[in-house]
Amino acid sequence: QEVGCLSIIVLGASGDLAKKKTFPALFHLFQQGFLQESDVHIFGYARTKLSDDDLRARIRGYLEKGASTEHAEVLTRFLQLIKYVSGSYDSKDGFQLLNKKISEHEISKNSQPGTSRRLFYLALPPSVYPSVCKMIRENCMNQSDLGGWTRIVVEKPFGKDLKSAEDLSSQLGELFNEQQLYRIDHYLGKELVQNLLVLRFANRFFLPLWNRDNIDNIQIVFREDFGTEGRGGYFDEYGIIRDIIQNHLLQVLCLVAMEKPVSLKPEHIRDEKVKVLQSVLPIKHEDVVLGQYEGYKDDPTVSDSSNTPTFATVVLHIHNERWEGVPFILKAGKALNNRKAEIRIQFKDVPGDIFKCKKQGRNEFVIRLQPSEAMYMKLTLKKPGLEMQTIQSELDLSYGLRYQDVKIPEAYERLILDTIRGDQQHFVRRDELKAAWEIFTPLLHNIDAGQLNPIPYKPGSRGPAEADELLARAGYVQTHGYIWIPPTLA
Ligand code: BG6
Repeated sequence: QEVGCLSIIVLGASGDLAKKKTFPALFHLFQQGFLQESDVHIFGYARTKLSDDDLRARIRGYLEKGASTEHAEVLTRFLQLIKYVSGSYDSKDGFQLLNKKISEHEISKNSQPGTSRRLFYLALPPSVYPSVCKMIRENCMNQSDLGGWTRIVVEKPFGKDLKSAEDLSSQLGELFNEQQLYRIDHYLGKELVQNLLVLRFANRFFLPLWNRDNIDNIQIVFREDFGTEGRGGYFDEYGIIRDIIQNHLLQVLCLVAMEKPVSLKPEHIRDEKVKVLQSVLPIKHEDVVLGQYEGYKDDPTVSDSSNTPTFATVVLHIHNERWEGVPFILKAGKALNNRKAEIRIQFKDVPGDIFKCKKQGRNEFVIRLQPSEAMYMKLTLKKPGLEMQTIQSELDLSYGLRYQDVKIPEAYERLILDTIRGDQQHFVRRDELKAAWEIFTPLLHNIDAGQLNPIPYKPGSRGPAEADELLARAGYVQTHGYIWIPPTLA
């Protein structure tokens, strides 16, 4: 089948997400040859009145850093592919004009009617998703279908709780089917998150150990060393559970906990993820610690009486044969002591231990998503030397060292490419989203109603001490006198 030309339409082109993530990702795809001048056009659409060159100049600012002449030349070619159309998000005129421009591009590239591809990227607040989708549906669809397509990319927040999320899903579902909708969770585009499936199901090492008989507890942790920084208004309405835990960390949990899918087909993988989510037990208040960093409310866009957590530790329990009794500790916080995202799998103690000397810690398998992607296994060894003493050491795979010539792609880059290719494996299906909201909605409603309050913590700290106590209650045993230091190139 003939493939027609590709139009990528970025709605909300003058906004933050578009400038910081969407256009840079498109540029990197262009640089690597995944978008060809011969068949791609990029359209920016927003309300602001701008010329093509105004938009190009704005984007250029984000892409010029440390540029070589070669980079500058590629950048100029990329920017020439971008056109701008201004219009509102709820009136036909703008979208008819947009459609006209897309069609002109398709005609100029001699695309056979029905073969051309239209990718709409909504870099917009979700409040306008329904009206924008309706406008696209009514004014900007491909004429017929000979292998051509129209796809819509949307990003969280998808609602604030189960009901609002389901309302949004139904509104979009009336306009587009699941195969046309790509719900981005950018954590699914991270290299080490994508590696989970291979790691778990292609290695004999892990198969017999990955269960309640051997694993004591699992932590999935996200930390940032900065606060809400200009996003206070958005953040205060959502809080850390909706911003990070209900989506990013829960998606990671699914990939860590799910059973082996029948095949790598997107539907098979997503079927298994849904099963895990449906097996999560209701959250008890004693399994939750919330925090809010001191100074959060100084932000003028945050209410003085805000109850919004900027930190949370939530222990989830999965009620199935593999995981009963194994706590999954999800922890996320802003304004903490460092920036890190990792999965920490802690194994049980060895039964009938014969090494009398005090051991430093348990076996742990750590997958560090960022920064410095790595995997390491903490294990107990004989301390080198004449004495019979044990010591904690590690088997280490640090990507920077092992794959020196590889540049790890940005999450958005990979996900946009998947969208063009029609691979939905790394996107969230409607029933998955619903199951994720079912887990957190009761807790979120109780927080919103003031039944649980965040504990203040100092910016730059580990978060509230109560969170460490919860961790210990859940069974996590801290290692003493040992930290893993990412190896660097000599
Ligand atoms: C976003 C959140 O989804 O993820 C932000 O809204 C957060 O609050 C960001 O800072 C973190 O993404 P990353 O890729 O930098 O870990």
